Amino acid sequence: MRKIVIAGNWKMFKTQAESTAFLSGFLPHLESTPSAREVVLCPPFTDLILASKSLHGSRVSLGSQNVHWEENGAYTGEIAAPMLTEIGVRYVIVGHSERRQYFGETDITVNLRLKAAQKHGLTPILCVGETKQQRDANETEKLISSQLKKGLVDVDQSNLVIAYEPIWAIGTGDTCEAKEANRVISLIRSQLSNPSVTIQYGGSVKPNNIDEIMAQPEIDGALVGGASLEADSFARIVNYK
Ligand code: 13P
Repeated sequence: MRKIVIAGNWKMFKTQAESTAFLSGFLPHLESTPSAREVVLCPPFTDLILASKSLHGSRVSLGSQNVHWEENGAYTGEIAAPMLTEIGVRYVIVGHSERRQYFGETDITVNLRLKAAQKHGLTPILCVGETKQQRDANETEKLISSQLKKGLVDVDQSNLVIAYEPIWAIGTGDTCEAKEANRVISLIRSQLSNPSVTIQYGGSVKPNNIDEIMAQPEIDGALVGGASLEADSFARIVNYK
């Protein structure tokens, strides 16, 4: 059985005061959320301890937006897995296109982060996806195959989530057609050794398209940016019909 995982990636948004306001508006909406749906919030590092306390006893799991591959060391600006697990973090986003594009993340460092996360019992959410230029040049399949092949070397597929995030759909309002996302996700699944890996779609997921996205047979959840920042809109997404 594939698990449904709906995750909010807050990126570099929300102070602690703003996180507190979000949670007080969001948590009451979860009373009717089917228990089989895993709900995850990935706030900035400075919000993690506060969120961990506020979410204790709730059904929301906490995720981080990055993890380094060493357990400690001289790596200014990075965060280590034991620092995350100590405060109750369960998931970590790895290889987001913004990290690949702006911060020099490569398939090699993605692979190191995935293995470190798993070694410490975190569930990594591996992001893959093509640019508009790559899509127009019919390179989507080749690119994603390569990201998977290099990223997943020696990675345990029994503790893994993958997010298909076409870069041209992120933050643009230009969602990938649900059927096309379903097609690419089925190609991703065909390259995995474990067919039960949860594969999410991400890229301009909103309250008005989540129902259609989740109706696709291959799509097991969503990785949501902008629409996860507002309590009512993220609540509508996790309570998709
Ligand atoms: P948007 O939902 O804002 O398009 O962001 C998607 C994303 O990058 C989630 O990781």
